[in-house]
Amino acid sequence: MIPVREVDDQAALTLETTGDGVAWLVFDRPDSKVNLLTSGVIRRLDELLASIEEDVAAQRIRGLVVMSGKPGTFIAGADVNEIASIINEQDGYEAAREGQRVFGRIENLPVPTVAAIDGFCVGAGTELTLACGRRIASDRDSTRIGLPEIRLGILPGFGGTTRLPRLVGLSAALPIILSGQPVSASKARRIGLVEEVLHPSLLRERARSIALEGGRGPKRARKLLSRLVDETSPGRALALSRARSGVMKETRGNYPAPLLALQTIRRSSGVPLDHAFEIEARALGRLIVTEVSKNLIHVFRLMEGAKKTGLEGAQPRPVQRAAVLGAGVMGGGIAQLLAYNDVAVRLKDINRDAITSGLKHARGIFDRSVRKGRMSSRDAARKMDSIAPALDYSGFGNTDLVIEAIVERLDVKKSVLREVESMVGEDTIVTSNTSSLSISAMQSALERPANFCGMHFFNPVHRMPLVEVIRGEATADATIATVHALVRRLGKTPVIMNDGPGFLVNRVLSPYLNEAGYLLEEGASVEAIDNAMLDFGMPMGPLRLLDEVGLDIARHAADVMHEALGKRLRPSSALASLAGADLLGRKGGKGFYAYDGDGDRGVNPEIYARLAPAVPEERTEIPDETIRTRCVMAMVNEAARILEDRIVASPGDIDLAMITGTGFPPFRGGLLCYADSVGLDDIADRLDEMARLVGPRFATAPLIRQYAIEGRGFYA
Ligand code: NAI
Repeated sequence: MIPVREVDDQAALTLETTGDGVAWLVFDRPDSKVNLLTSGVIRRLDELLASIEEDVAAQRIRGLVVMSGKPGTFIAGADVNEIASIINEQDGYEAAREGQRVFGRIENLPVPTVAAIDGFCVGAGTELTLACGRRIASDRDSTRIGLPEIRLGILPGFGGTTRLPRLVGLSAALPIILSGQPVSASKARRIGLVEEVLHPSLLRERARSIALEGGRGPKRARKLLSRLVDETSPGRALALSRARSGVMKETRGNYPAPLLALQTIRRSSGVPLDHAFEIEARALGRLIVTEVSKNLIHVFRLMEGAKKTGLEGAQPRPVQRAAVLGAGVMGGGIAQLLAYNDVAVRLKDINRDAITSGLKHARGIFDRSVRKGRMSSRDAARKMDSIAPALDYSGFGNTDLVIEAIVERLDVKKSVLREVESMVGEDTIVTSNTSSLSISAMQSALERPANFCGMHFFNPVHRMPLVEVIRGEATADATIATVHALVRRLGKTPVIMNDGPGFLVNRVLSPYLNEAGYLLEEGASVEAIDNAMLDFGMPMGPLRLLDEVGLDIARHAADVMHEALGKRLRPSSALASLAGADLLGRKGGKGFYAYDGDGDRGVNPEIYARLAPAVPEERTEIPDETIRTRCVMAMVNEAARILEDRIVASPGDIDLAMITGTGFPPFRGGLLCYADSVGLDDIADRLDEMARLVGPRFATAPLIRQYAIEGRGFYA
């Protein structure tokens, strides 16, 4: 029997020649929402190209159109599973050469070739269109064209790294290749990636006439500056070296793919096409086997996994109208996010001034989007108008979902939630954005506990991708499914978990932030601690993070965690001594660092004096490696306990939450993926040693001990 996959690969691509002599190569994978360029589909393409070549030679074909049979989706790239399965450099090289060879057959056809792009077109899909003589696109919002390979730790290896700069020029190609971000159809036209953008209903006819008329597309007038960059060798050298500095600044050299992509572009520029392809394929082979690429693919799969709840049969309810309680820092941000995603919001507070400032906060975020060209001012104004301020519960009767974001006090929350429950419908879902209080405890005060769960956003709401969706003891599956679906609609990453102190991210961060305090007590400098973690790949060091969170909030959170989880989470004296009224972190202008408006004036010169006597007068040099080991092992150990306590079922949930909630470096695959790469026997040894030499807070979690003995990792 032929495997289903091969049958699908065969059926995924069809060729039809119409009476006018136009050959239509149509991608339409049966029973699938997207078209993928699997190796089977590439083989099928190769077969069909052989027959096209024959027909061209016999003058039965005058032109070729490449398109998708799925309106609104073109080709979603190669198959990630195939990329993941390549573990040998030569295999990667050969796969790239094969893709290049097949696409080269299109480029070498002696008749006009046109790609008609309607919908999402990325990766190998884009590379296929680059091998066509001409490209046109539909004007749908979903038409976006890009080369996201960098995000999987590789580079476009089916000719894209070579062809894109030759087509659109270096200055336009570099951001597309290095960021992996797809561009809209109109941007694609501006830079010359496509030559025309039209209504989807006109695409086919236009493609037909180009295929029949032939000739070159319209010549695009380039700005003088981009011509200087693209067409002179000093200009190119400058652009490449600038791009390299940008990459180094952003990644500290932790990601090999953008660096090798730049080197590939430099080496292959101006050389004959086939030589350039050879360089590109070699680079792909080198990258595809790296641990970083495998880790990034792991993260990609975790992200895909988060799209599902894993709850069989639980149907999400639609959410059209929502209410937010509390117009503070979080409430204002949450209301903006809902309105931005077309959910009408009621924003209620007990304090008129708070509402004014909550609305101002929301408007500020919209204004920034307008300034950055992400939305029109008309759209922003319309969405802003969908936030209705309120001092009472009017309108709560017909809301589908309520998010409570008032003061962090259990007694107050319980009584307010009870009040809310009496104002809303039977099916309305009620959630709390609490960062430290028990969801089950709040739930116990309610008449309809099944409709209640935690919905924990991170600050700043518009920037942080994670939302922890927390199940209380009595929460119904349908409640979780509804909140999960809403979080996805808001463009955020939901991670579903059980209730427990600090839930997931704050619990893992707690011993990490404490450890930074202990290191200060031993004489480490603020810079040494933060730099060690920046080098590890964190987007900011722990002390900077404390400043961002706010030292008052951090102090409160540390006390809550200490009380809930005991001695191992006792805050360091250094942190405990902080948080006077004048030392609040960024929001108060002074913390571990000193701030000047939005700017930053470096380490706060008074900080050590303020921390005395908890920290010594003189700084002592503590090796970076020691700082990193202590801070990271503290997190790994706590994460293991989270698994023991069954807050989440899988290490993947912890890795995804840490990446999206703290910026834990994706190139390491997540906290526990990193721990596995070190080896749990090694980690158990280090923890044992630290428990002896540094303090009993490092006592090895039983789960790590058990896995070390079994010789396995967190991932089976
Ligand atoms: P905030 O102090 O900025 O805002 C709270 C608002 O709630 C105030 O405007 C207050 O007037 C209002 N309020 C108090 N009682 C109310 C009532 N009965 N009805 C309506 N409004 C009422 O506080 P923030 O920082 O926004 O925190 C709110 C919640 O979000 C807390 O539970 C906090 O733990 C949680 N949270 C905070 C984060 C942060 O970084 N600030 C991060 C994640 C969660």
